[in-house]
Amino acid sequence: MAAKNHRQWLAEPNLKRSEWVDSRIYSDQEIFEEELANIFKKTWIPVCHESELPKAYDFRTVSIAREPVIVARGPDNEIRAFLNVCPHRGMIIERRPSGSFLEGSPSGNPKRMTCMFHAWQYDMRGNCVYISREKEGYQERLCKEDVGLRRLRCEVKFGGFVWVNLDDSPKVSLEDWAGPAFECLRKSLEAEPLEVFHYHKAIVNANYKLWHDTNCEFYHDFMHYHNRVTGFNDAYFARKNEAFDHGHVVVGTFEVNYDKYEGFESRAALSFPHLPPNQWYMIDLFPGMNFNLRGSAFRCDIVTPLAPDKVMIEYRGLGLKRDTAEERRTRINHHNSIWGPFGRNLHEDLIGVQGQGTTMAPGAEPRRILQGRHEDQTIHDENGMRHYYKEWGRWMNRTPSEPESPFVEQVSVAAE
Ligand code: FES
Ligand SMILES: [Fe+2]
Repeated sequence: MAAKNHRQWLAEPNLKRSEWVDSRIYSDQEIFEEELANIFKKTWIPVCHESELPKAYDFRTVSIAREPVIVARGPDNEIRAFLNVCPHRGMIIERRPSGSFLEGSPSGNPKRMTCMFHAWQYDMRGNCVYISREKEGYQERLCKEDVGLRRLRCEVKFGGFVWVNLDDSPKVSLEDWAGPAFECLRKSLEAEPLEVFHYHKAIVNANYKLWHDTNCEFYHDFMHYHNRVTGFNDAYFARKNEAFDHGHVVVGTFEVNYDKYEGFESRAALSFPHLPPNQWYMIDLFPGMNFNLRGSAFRCDIVTPLAPDKVMIEYRGLGLKRDTAEERRTRINHHNSIWGPFGRNLHEDLIGVQGQGTTMAPGAEPRRILQGRHEDQTIHDENGMRHYYKEWGRWMNRTPSEPESPFVEQVSVAAE
């Protein structure tokens, strides 16, 4: 039987419950609010790369689960994170996306974070160092030592990324949380300093998990002409799709045949340290961060969920800090020819998830999103997504295929 009537369309397929999810997890406002509270406010989020704050007093502002965050490099070279919120009356302290506190400005003293509303000032450690007309207004009742910024857990790790956790007591340390998943690339990323050479962002009308799905499953390489002609051989189909604790997935490497694509050539000469030529690793971290090393160019995606059906994705491209001008040009070309606006890959992924988002708008009839492929945990197996949604179920205490029901742990984890 081919096309279905409504009842048949809604009938369960001959797959296990763990092999699909309910589309409401991509569109429901209540579930979205719980995700911000239960997941994004409690886990480690990479917010930028240390090379974006190269000098003392450089800063960058971001937001995590609607909370404004500032990261700043102190005169001692440490990068620290704070809520970007003034303890006086709740004004956002710094409104620029990035910059430096080294120089003074009409509303701020040099080397200070100054809240422009009533001119309270903070140093790079988050101490309040100045309250305007302190004694006149507060006498002995409140002084600058009594107030200070909200300090956040912050670590620089895994190739120089700056990780922040809004939770003072995370369930697991950053090292234990992501270390095993990063193991395959750690030597390559930590051999020498890296540097961001590319940044752009996309705001997409789709749930953030749909974006992460495109990074966890490679079955959709059928959409990518470039990937089909430079891969789709025995070595490609043998790539392992490996699950790690805490919901992470690593897609193992193979040798990409770039020269099979007209006009492209091998990228071996600029391989990252300790990598055989033209290798391609992908690390997908729960709940939505991606680290993608295609031999000579490294890409990182960071998601900021804005609404159930809206996500901001920030893309960074990285090379080696010591690149010569010519090496850097070539590396940028390698990056952009795949992932740039006129590249051969990234825009196709965006079209894919935007198309999914279109069918899963809030209020759309719930439907099943299938994740039931089993291919010995290789590249077109959908084990990566099944693994991710199991972790999601734990954090949310909801069953992904039946989100109104509490999550029940299944025993056969390995087989999933
Ligand atoms: S709100 Fe920041 S100084 Fe008043
Ligand atoms: Fe893709």
